[in-house]
Amino acid sequence: LTTAATALALTVTAQGAFAACDDGEIVIKFSHVTNTDKHPKGIAATLLMERVNAEMNGKACMEVFPNSTLYNDDQVLEAMLQGDVQFAAPSLSKFEQFTKQFRIFDLPFMFKNINAVDEFQNSETGKAMKQSMTRRGLLGLAFWHNGMKQMSANKPLVHPTDAKGMKFRVQNSDVLKAQMSALGGSPQPMAFSEVYGALQTGVVDGQENTWSNIYGQKFFEVQDGSTETNHGVLDYMVVTSTDWWDSLPEDVRSQLGTIVAEVTASRNAAVAEVDAQARQAILDAGGVIRELTPELRQEWVDVMKPVWTEFTADVGQENIDAAQAINA
Ligand code: LMR
Repeated sequence: LTTAATALALTVTAQGAFAACDDGEIVIKFSHVTNTDKHPKGIAATLLMERVNAEMNGKACMEVFPNSTLYNDDQVLEAMLQGDVQFAAPSLSKFEQFTKQFRIFDLPFMFKNINAVDEFQNSETGKAMKQSMTRRGLLGLAFWHNGMKQMSANKPLVHPTDAKGMKFRVQNSDVLKAQMSALGGSPQPMAFSEVYGALQTGVVDGQENTWSNIYGQKFFEVQDGSTETNHGVLDYMVVTSTDWWDSLPEDVRSQLGTIVAEVTASRNAAVAEVDAQARQAILDAGGVIRELTPELRQEWVDVMKPVWTEFTADVGQENIDAAQAINA
């Protein structure tokens, strides 16, 4: 295609959110589960696609499949190992089958905010986590931020005792299951794309997620409200297949790696703004957000934090200490 035709193809397929690839280009399929324009991951993936397609034209081409249209997070890593998709950015909770190290990010009240998460990920320990699954065929290229998680339910959640007996959707993570059990709730693992329907029909009573997911998936419309607990972290690893990555010509691998690093730096720096916009958008749309006094929040800490002991061996006491030192 000529440059003009490429531009046209990009425009025409914008609704489908992927670009047409030219013959001879290395095709990079990037599958993810969120929307494309009001979400930290969606915005970053779109920017990555635009930059790859503009700067690597003739060499490589990226097609982004958002909104679980190609795979959900339970399928995408297997599809990657089969060579059916080259890029994904599942939340760190979705790597349970591959490593237990990432459980540190799911432990409630481990990190005080996203800046602390960023600092931990940029430590030697954090950086090494990107290589922790290469034996299993997966290579982490970058951490992408989303934000802190909040609790939502079909009844007001003020005290942790309010959660007793409720069914909560969780990502498929043993830590998150233990956390909901500690509240006296019943954890229900479920794919992200099914959560809205499950909340709407009452299959589950509540869930935990970030403002951009509560807004982007419209969970607030089918919940009584959200409680601003900031109890945990939702972050992503941009991941590829080691076989595929190693098979790339050196110049392609290096240029792609540079673009990923630059997109990561710029979008991670903007994440607090996207998070705040989503929070405000929920309020503007009539959603209810309950803030907690320090005393009330401490009640949630007291009930949820004891789950750390169950997972200390998986994540390492030294890593817990390092995370706590960053919070201080
Ligand atoms: C979830 O499953 O709730 C999240 O991991 C979805 C996402 O990618 O933000």
